Amino acid sequence: MKINADRPRDLVAARSKYYDRLADHFVREIGSNRIRTIIEAGCGRGQLTIPLLGKLPTSTRMIAVDSSKGPYAGWLNEFAAGLHRRRLEKRVRIVCSDVRNLDGLDNESVDVVVSNELLCDLPRKPQLQKALGEFYRVLRPGGIMVHGEWSSYPTAGPQGLLIKHWPSWTPDQLFVMMRDAGFHDSRVTYFDTTVHLGYENAVEELRTWGWTERLLKQSDRLLKHGGIDLPFEHVIRCAKGR
Ligand SMILES: C[S@@+](CC[C@H](N)C(=O)[O-])C[C@H]1O[C@@H](n2cnc3c(N)ncnc32)[C@H](O)[C@@H]1O
Repeated sequence: MKINADRPRDLVAARSKYYDRLADHFVREIGSNRIRTIIEAGCGRGQLTIPLLGKLPTSTRMIAVDSSKGPYAGWLNEFAAGLHRRRLEKRVRIVCSDVRNLDGLDNESVDVVVSNELLCDLPRKPQLQKALGEFYRVLRPGGIMVHGEWSSYPTAGPQGLLIKHWPSWTPDQLFVMMRDAGFHDSRVTYFDTTVHLGYENAVEELRTWGWTERLLKQSDRLLKHGGIDLPFEHVIRCAKGR
């Protein structure tokens, strides 16, 4: 399915539809086990967290962790304001922390760990190993993890402009790293809903990916003709042994 955000005014609704469908995908991967506590690592502004909360039982408590710095400074404040507007604060504990050091969370204290677009921000092996070690520590035996990532497989926009999201771990790399961290029963699914961005939306998005003004100018004609399609996601799920 492709969601259209041709004009800037389409963007909010398109993102909301995208994350709503992504939350459905996560809920399917989490399964029907009883969940008392779930961690979302790298929750950002809560774009996934809020629809996810709406689809989980009201008894489920969420611990939303984010370091909220660098390009993401202030995102946790935006998230807290969004929770307040929706009167969801009671269901969420916000933890401002690096996911590689979850000191404030007890061993074996949570049922599920999820993340979306976090692992690409841990591009070096020791960084990812450290985070996976922490996820393993805080998960209860039998607990599960679900991580979504944009694919780095190049996708062509409608007029052939090839874009590649980088960095990104491949599902094979994640499988090995998760197995080495002690997880098992890994499986990968694909979330193939994408968003089509028209010219102005595409330019803004590519700036956040680090595209320089020169590169944007070089691609201007193609962007004006066709915009871009955002990448699809791979979603890896695995479990901690009982
Ligand atoms: C690309 S954003 C994704 C946000 C959100 N999950 C979403 O899908 O919209 C990555 C998020 O991960 C957070 N993050 C990156 N590295 C982190 C780390 N080492 N510890 C905690 N949070 C981190 C960033 O602050 C940012 O909010």
